[in-house]
Amino acid sequence: MVRVGIVGLGYWGPNLVRNFSELPESEVTAVCDIDPGRLQKVSSRFPRALATSDVEELLDRGRIDAVVISTPTRTHYSLAKKALERGIHVFTEKPMATSIAECEELIHLSKKNGTQLFVGHIFLYNAAVLKLKEYVNSGELGNICYIFSSRLNLGPVRTDVNALWDLATHDISIILHLIDSERVSVNCQGLAYLNSKIHDVCTVTIHFQNGCMAILHSSWLDPNKVRQMTVVGDKKMAVYNDIEPLEKIKIYEKGIDKPLYTDNFGEFHFSYRYGDTFSPRIIETESLKAECQHFIHCIQKGIEPRTCGQNGMQVVNVLAGADLSLHDGGGKVLLQSLAGNKQ
Ligand SMILES: NC(=O)c1ccc[n+]([C@@H]2O[C@H](COP(=O)([O-])OP(=O)(O)OC[C@H]3O[C@@H](n4cnc5c(N)ncnc54)[C@H](O)[C@@H]3O)[C@@H](O)[C@H]2O)c1
Repeated sequence: MVRVGIVGLGYWGPNLVRNFSELPESEVTAVCDIDPGRLQKVSSRFPRALATSDVEELLDRGRIDAVVISTPTRTHYSLAKKALERGIHVFTEKPMATSIAECEELIHLSKKNGTQLFVGHIFLYNAAVLKLKEYVNSGELGNICYIFSSRLNLGPVRTDVNALWDLATHDISIILHLIDSERVSVNCQGLAYLNSKIHDVCTVTIHFQNGCMAILHSSWLDPNKVRQMTVVGDKKMAVYNDIEPLEKIKIYEKGIDKPLYTDNFGEFHFSYRYGDTFSPRIIETESLKAECQHFIHCIQKGIEPRTCGQNGMQVVNVLAGADLSLHDGGGKVLLQSLAGNKQ
């Protein structure tokens, strides 16, 4: 049995409390929030768990093997560091931290102390994303030319991080999972409308070494909820629509073939392919449950998680580069040149 303490009981934390308390292999023995109202609401349902507003008390007296951090982004690093220094396994919500230097330090501590460092990139536990990855890996889509991803909604508006760090984090983690190639550069532009210091809307472009490109549009200032990713391959194309209840992935047997070499303009014709469209069967599972199960399994078996510290740092690398570009008028930022980059 893995004993878990959960820090941060706001919007997302209670979902983690529910999942870890329902798993047969884990037990929630302590909960923590600096907000007494939120602490009281959750602790009243778990009277046997230690309830505290002080994270040091949770770490030292919560009888825990692992801590789950679901607090605002800027606090992830310091809270994770305190736990790793005590030899406690860490699950931190996304994004892992706010800089590559912070990520490197956490990875170093987890290696030194033999503890797990897990990042909550939930979409890497999502059945539809895993199915999409199968299509990419099997070569059925052909070579991937580009990916276009939209994550839009009216709210929830964040006051601690911009739409890039809050929303694009998910798409970046999915895209890095799908495209098996080094990241070369990133550009980002955005609009800070509601609060002059926090961007509500961002567009990000990532270029990969294999020639592939990814474009992301993230916004909490949009009339419609959209969570859609288009993967364009040179054989077939796929659309993943996360809010579609049943047919989350559609495969389009469509494409455009370039003509073989010709120096005669009259012979230069593209040929368009129009084939069937189909939707593969996806066995629905709760992504958060799969994520929590994987964390516990990795602790019990001593294996590296799919979303380990290194994986979390790769996402932060792209986010940090994009943030630099965002605050510098959208210019290209070379990812290899970022300090501490270990890709
Ligand atoms: N995986 C997902 O799909 C998903 C969804 C939503 C949020 N998140 C992530 O979860 C985290 C929390 O997001 P949220 O929406 O629940 O935020 P929130 O603001 O609703 O809740 C954060 C909670 O942390 C508490 N807190 C802050 N500092 C603390 C500290 N030092 N010690 C103890 N408690 C502290 C606050 O009082 C608050 O109750 C963020 O990292 C966010 O990116 C992930």
